[in-house]
This record gives sequence, C-alpha cells and structure tokens, in this order.
Amino acid sequence: MNILSTIRARFRPALESVDTGEIEKYLEMIKPSQDPQFGDYQANCAMPLGKQLGESPREVASRIVAALELQDMCHQIEIAGPGFINLTLRQDFLADQIAAALEDERIGIFQCDASRSYVIDFSAPNVAKPMHVGHIRSTVIGDALAKILRFCGHSVITDNHIGDWGTQFGMILYGYKHFLNAESYATEPVTELARLYRLVHQLVQYRTDLKNIPHLEHKILALRDSAANPRAPQGSTQKEDKSTKKESRRLEAQIRQIEEDLHLARQRVMAIENDTVLASLAEKHPDVDRDILRETARLHGGDETNLSLWKQFIPVCLEDIERMYRRLGIAFDHTLGESFYQDQLADTVTGLRQKGLATESDGAICVFSDVHDVPMIIQKQDGAFLYATTDLATIDYRLKTFHPDVILYVVDHRQSLHFEQLFDAVVRGGCNGVELCHVKFGTVLGEDGRPFKTRSGSTVGLGGLLDEAIRRAGQVVRENNPELCESECESIADTVGIGALKYADLSQNRESDYVFSYDKMLALNGNTATYMQYAYARIQSILSKGNANIDALLKAGTRPQLTHPAERALALAILRFSETLELVIADYRPNHLTGYLFEQVAKRFSTFFDSCPVIKADSKEVRNERFLLCDLTARTLKTGLSLLGIDVVEKM
Ligand code: ARG
Repeated sequence: MNILSTIRARFRPALESVDTGEIEKYLEMIKPSQDPQFGDYQANCAMPLGKQLGESPREVASRIVAALELQDMCHQIEIAGPGFINLTLRQDFLADQIAAALEDERIGIFQCDASRSYVIDFSAPNVAKPMHVGHIRSTVIGDALAKILRFCGHSVITDNHIGDWGTQFGMILYGYKHFLNAESYATEPVTELARLYRLVHQLVQYRTDLKNIPHLEHKILALRDSAANPRAPQGSTQKEDKSTKKESRRLEAQIRQIEEDLHLARQRVMAIENDTVLASLAEKHPDVDRDILRETARLHGGDETNLSLWKQFIPVCLEDIERMYRRLGIAFDHTLGESFYQDQLADTVTGLRQKGLATESDGAICVFSDVHDVPMIIQKQDGAFLYATTDLATIDYRLKTFHPDVILYVVDHRQSLHFEQLFDAVVRGGCNGVELCHVKFGTVLGEDGRPFKTRSGSTVGLGGLLDEAIRRAGQVVRENNPELCESECESIADTVGIGALKYADLSQNRESDYVFSYDKMLALNGNTATYMQYAYARIQSILSKGNANIDALLKAGTRPQLTHPAERALALAILRFSETLELVIADYRPNHLTGYLFEQVAKRFSTFFDSCPVIKADSKEVRNERFLLCDLTARTLKTGLSLLGIDVVEKM
C-alpha cells in the first residue's frame, strides 16, 4: 500500500468540499512530516487555501478535517500553529500493514494502476573506444530506472543505442591498414583493436596539439595584455572599481585554464617526440587527421573494403562491451546502434524538408527554431548525416515498433541542447503522443575536482575501475571476516565492489557532478552500498544466531505489535517504500531510493537495534515479533538494493 497516496486520495473529497479549483496543487502539499512531533504526515494546504478563499487558515483547516474520512488510518488529526494539519497513523493500522507486508512477496509495495510503456535509451557507449568512467553513470542510472519502473508495473523496453558508426571507426580502419599486428589481431582481437585506436588517437591528437599550441600561446598573450591594460573605469565610483576587479579575476581564471591546456598539449607533444617509435610514426603520417575522416567517409559511402572490415570489427567491439555488462550484471532488450538507422537517414531528411521544418542554409540542411540560437544540422554540405539525423530516425523507428508512451534518454547533461532541439523538432513535426525526456546527469570528477582521469592524464577505463573497486572491497571483507575462505572472500568482494561503485553513482543527485572516491564508496558507515550490505548481513546473522524460523512464526500467527517507539518508527519507515518509488519515478531520480534506504530504513533499524534487544528480548513473544521486524527490514534492504542493480551478501 502507498500510505501517502491513500491519504491524498482521502483528502481529495475533503478539499473538494471546501471548494478549491486547484486540488492537485493542494494535494501535493501533503507530505511525510520531517519531525515526528508533528505526526507522521502533515498537510500544509490550509495556509495558501485560506489566502485564496480569504478565510482564516485554521478555519479552513477545521473544515477540511471535519470532512476527512481517515478514522481507519489515523488516530489523531491535529490542527497546529497557523493551520498545519498533523496526522498520526493508528497503531493497529500500522501493525496491519506490516502484517500484510510480511506475507507478501512484494513486501506490500504498490503496483501502479495506470501502467505506461517506456523505452529507455541508456549506456550507449561509442564502441571501439575503451569504455570509461563516464559510461558508468548512464549505464547504472538507466538500469536502475528500468528495474524500478518494471517493478512498479510499467512496461519497459531497454535499448542500447551504441555509437557504432562514428569517426572512431575511421581511426580503427586507418590503424588496421597501417599498423596492424596480425598475430595479435588473430589471438586477441579486442586488445589489438584497442591498441590501434589508442595509437591512431595519439597521432591525431599530436597533429591537433601542434596546430593548437600557437593559438593557445597567442590567446594567453592577448589575455595577459587585456589583464595588464584594463579598460579605464568611466568614473571612479566604487561600483566600477568592483566590476574592474571582477573582470580581472575572470581574465586570470581564463588565463590559468588556457595555460593548463597548453601545458597538457605540450606534454603530449613531448611524449610523442621523446619516443623514437612514435616520433617516426608521427613523421610518416603527417595527414593522419585528414585521412581518418576519409576512411570514415568511405565507410559511410559504402566502400566495400571498409564496410567488410567494419563488419569484422563490430562483433569484436560488442564482445568487449558485453563483457563489461556481464560484470555489471546488466542486460538490454535491444542493442540497435547508430548503424542500424543508416539507410533511413535520407528519408528522414526528406520528410523534414517536406514538412517545411528543415531548410537549406549555406549548403547544409538545418532545422531552425525560435528558441535556439543555433540550428540543428541534419545534413552537412558534403552530404554527410549527423548524430541528430540518426536520433530523429531512431525516434521514428521506436514509435512505429514499440509504441511507447515515454522515451527516456539517460545521457550526459552536456548533450542538453541536442535533446532540446531534437524534441522540439519532433513535436513540431506533429508528434505529440509520446513524452520525450532527457534524464541528464553530471560529470564524474576526480578528487582534484576535475574530470576523473588517471595519473597519466588519460581517462580511466571502466575495466580497471571495476578491478580496483573489487580489490579494495576484498581488503574490507578480509579485514572484517578473517575466518572466511579465499573463494568466499572473492565472491563477496565482487558483489561489494560492484555494489559500491553503482551505489556511489546512484546516491548522487544525478544532475550534479560528483567526486569519485574509492574510500568513500566502500565506507562501512554512511550512505554506501557497503553499509547497506553490512546491515543486511548483520540481520541475517542475528536471525541465524537466534534460530529464527520466519515461516513458522508467520504460520503460527505471530505479528509485530510495534509497542516500542523504535519498533513503530522502523515499521513506518518500511511502509514508506511505495511512496519512495513513486517519488523516484516522478522525476527519474534513483537517489530518492538510496536516501530512503539509508536515512529511513538503515538508520531506524540501527536505533531499533540499539534500543530493542532481539535475541535477549524480555519475552519469547517480543523476541519473535522482533525477528519478524528484522526479517522485513532485511527484505526491504534487499529489494531496494536489487532495484538499484545491487546484490546483497549473506555474510560480510
Ligand atoms: N553514443 C552517445 C555518446 O557516447 C550517446 C548516445 C545517447 N543516445 C542517443 N539516442 N543519442 O555520447
């Protein structure tokens, strides 16, 4: 049962009786109380309603309360202060709900009555490039949303829109044609392709750096010049003085940033030039940047050699990402990459031109809109199609094939403009029946506050990241459980390491950047998967130490009476699972669920455990009731974690 929505449903007729036009807005103002002294739930709608009706809020509150039918749920409805309505749930109501949850496989969690169908576009790495830490966010958030939506009764199709048609293939094709180590390719194709990608990428980067360095130097000189000669203030008022200072701080920050870019570019150049092999390759391939674009263009143009090589590479690349998904325990219903849509792109462009949405501008085909300064380009002067064109064709295909009510795109916030323009074009193209939503997320930062990189400055590969998390988890597990054998430790470390990584990501507000820290994510105290898994394992050990037989207790009719305040508080926390999931779905934020598991369930369990002896309870009855509460807490943690794609361990 979803207590909050039941209370809201009961408020509806009461609010109607005081005659307000905006019921939904006022229903939203019924929330769980922040402080138990104000009851379990609180309705704050009487104040704005009073204002709207020109009546005293307390007066309005008492009219609402008089019309409320909540006696079966609440034992006390109190009007406090200026007109807050405080609701306290009845003890027998809570006990009944807990009894129902104990007997239910879904531990009483609601299933929505209005099921919607979703397509979730997530993960979507550009294959043939090694996957890095940035990919973890989309993968983990998308998977959690898919699991939560399904659990709540929605139908979900997951589609991994991999980048399998981009310029990275130009690099690999070029690398294959010039630098292939045939022997390695025969035995370790994934490793060899990754080596080729990195090598060509390095050579291209070298060319780019050589071109950029003089520009960067010039920019710094120019900025230093403006910093040394600030525009003379018009008068000499304090305000102008302040703005000059602000301007010079801005300039200094800009200079520092460019200096750092310059420093990195010089370092990369030196790294090539100091390496005899790389230096000679760089000399022999002066036009590598132009040539890789040609290779890509040939592939897209249907060149036989490139196409057949591409067909050879794709399974290798897919196997590489599949291995990562297997480690993360993530699977997709479909993996329809960019290449899948290539033969539909010309029609997509024609269709938009016919609708008058796309027009030619300087030889390119663009979709202009009133709200964006720059147009969305769907075909370049040279005839090439773009990322946006593929996305338009993809929407078309998804609508025709899957008929979704909603399409979610779990993609980096840096692509916001792309999705705004895309959705705008789709809506203006006459498609209104589907809700399109960019579920955006921020960047993963290193402890220095900059995008997470290895010491050598390259981005961190996802494989290495998982290995390290598991290795460190192993340390934690071994320290805590010296009695466990090596193979047991290893399997627990795997679950704990991967869980820590996923949870660290999911527990952040997805739109913020977050700082990646192994130590924090594996902390045994705090809002981490490790702590939740530990709490779960601890409950299992209590139950087994006390020889608790949950099924037998249930059969015998034992039910928690929730007499102790800490028992009641824990029970209420457990019963808030449904409303938490509804909150997650409302704005696609899994951190509501992690926050709930930590702040409500785990913390209240810890208070309960400190103040209510379980095995040493005063009577057998109380002990058995507490066993049931322990079991329900464990099942809540387990279900919550599983919806986040995280497993529990029995021992830890
Ligand atoms: N491959 C893209 C990238 O790595 C993400 C694709 C997201 N999905 C989409 N339909 N555009 O940036």
